[in-house]
Amino acid sequence: MKDRSVDVFITSPPYNLGIIYSAYQDKKGEAEYLDWLEKICFEIKRVMKDDASFFLNIAGSSSNPWLPFELIVRLRKIFILQNHIEWVKSISIGKESYGHFKPVVSKRFLHRNHEYIFHLTKTGIVQLNRLNVGVPYKDKSNIARRSHTYDLRCRGDVWFIPYDTIRKKSEKFNHPGTFPIALPQMCLRLHGRKNPVVVDPFMGTGTTLLAAHYEGGRAIGMDIDKNYVKIAKERLEKAVLTK
Ligand SMILES: C[S@@+](CC[C@H](N)C(=O)[O-])C[C@H]1O[C@@H](n2cnc3c(N)ncnc32)[C@H](O)[C@@H]1O
Repeated sequence: MKDRSVDVFITSPPYNLGIIYSAYQDKKGEAEYLDWLEKICFEIKRVMKDDASFFLNIAGSSSNPWLPFELIVRLRKIFILQNHIEWVKSISIGKESYGHFKPVVSKRFLHRNHEYIFHLTKTGIVQLNRLNVGVPYKDKSNIARRSHTYDLRCRGDVWFIPYDTIRKKSEKFNHPGTFPIALPQMCLRLHGRKNPVVVDPFMGTGTTLLAAHYEGGRAIGMDIDKNYVKIAKERLEKAVLTK
């Protein structure tokens, strides 16, 4: 890919947790895994425009909670960590619970209800459109006090994005690690450029490409697994036909 040609990268690489994909073996040695992703990130930086955003979604596991942090410290020599977003998949407020998570059966560990979205940029001064993903003020007196003509504020860096309720794995295309489409949509809205060029180098079932399609962008996706590429193509074709 050409230098400085991409507006937004959104990706969720394999997490190196031994997840069962149909082609990819998700279990490298830790040093090998980090070297591999670091090399890819140098290439990502090369093809990013100077005001591009790179949203990197990753999580650890109960047995390897350090991994996302090891990675982000490594990436310090390549990018500025402009924002660190917590993706909350499930939350309990008082006695009410919202969203879904994979239960952890353990006397030591809590269920893991969140993942990380690291927002990496080349300079740390990339302008975002925070109100594109904004929320209305709870206390409406803030609108006048802040001399706003609109009822919106920045939603902050904790994003509750639940998965749809599914009954069968086939509803998630038998892929073990998809993210909900709202996740790349919110990243694209936050970056906020019109008609962005979007890339997901680990696209799986093509969720990022679909989000780019709905948000008016042009997207390029890659996956090592031909079956996932086929699913991504089918999802996109269906979206184009029904738009
Ligand atoms: C966490 S999944 C991404 C899922 C995606 N976000 C979605 O919603 O469907 C990671 C993907 O990386 C792919 N992958 C692993 N190694 C790769 C490589 N060297 N090049 C491209 N894709 C690779 C796997 O096949 C897997 O589909």
